[in-house]
Amino acid sequence: MVAICFVNQKGGVGKTASVINVGAALAKLGNRVLLIDLDPQESLTYWLGITSPPKTVCDVLEDGAAIQDSIFQHRGGFDVLASNEMLAALTPDINSLKQALAGQPYDYVLLDCSPTLGMLTLAALTAANWVIIPLCPDLLSIKGMSQLLGTIQTVREKTNPSLILKGIIATRYCARKRMHREVLEQLGMFFEDTEIFTVRENISIAESPVQGVSVLDYKPKCTGAKEYLTIARRLTDG
Ligand SMILES: Nc1ncnc2c1ncn2[C@@H]1O[C@H](COP(=O)(O)OP(=O)(O)OP(=O)(O)O)[C@@H](O)[C@H]1O
Ligand SMILES: [Mg+2]
Repeated sequence: MVAICFVNQKGGVGKTASVINVGAALAKLGNRVLLIDLDPQESLTYWLGITSPPKTVCDVLEDGAAIQDSIFQHRGGFDVLASNEMLAALTPDINSLKQALAGQPYDYVLLDCSPTLGMLTLAALTAANWVIIPLCPDLLSIKGMSQLLGTIQTVREKTNPSLILKGIIATRYCARKRMHREVLEQLGMFFEDTEIFTVRENISIAESPVQGVSVLDYKPKCTGAKEYLTIARRLTDG
């Protein structure tokens, strides 16, 4: 099992969109996939149209409920552990998520973090094998990276030495914008060993929650669906 933490303390950069669409793409490639909504905003839960999950991530982290009793089986071919607004009041043990995931029968578990670097995000980074950073390719995103990279480094030193920065996804990318091209170039120079993906601005991605599905099910032929499939293929290539 590979656990992938999608993290960025900046809001609205495409964390939830990337978890859902990379997860859906990994499932379409034949993998057993679990998505976990670790955000009290419940964006992933809401996006996927889940209104009455059997249990939520609160039950798992607070009361020790088993993941297999708590998941919602989504028609996109993946499982979801839903969030709950009560998650905001939870201060989980840093190892709680890692312990809950031990021995789970999935190929990939994708963790959708909230836009903070609080205890839940630290628990997610502690449980993860890989980190993926979604960002909007503007100058403020680059500025916020040093704090995020500092947090990842601290987690490596304290709780998870083998944590790998697997990729960066520049979302809402627009090749016509000089700033986007320049930010991408700077990222490429700074992160020599990390793959940098782009997902272009694509209205179908933003529309897909209307049907409670990923963009791969909403508009399978659109650029967003193709780009997320490409990312999933690269991740599974090794
Ligand atoms: N490539 C894209 N093209 C167009 N719209 C997009 C794209 N990626 C994401 N969006 C839209 O941008 C908005 C923010 O995306 P998303 O919710 O995934 O960000 P987030 O980082 O999870 O936000 P938060 O920090 O609040 O959790 C959403 O409405 C989403 O549908
Ligand atoms: Mg989100």
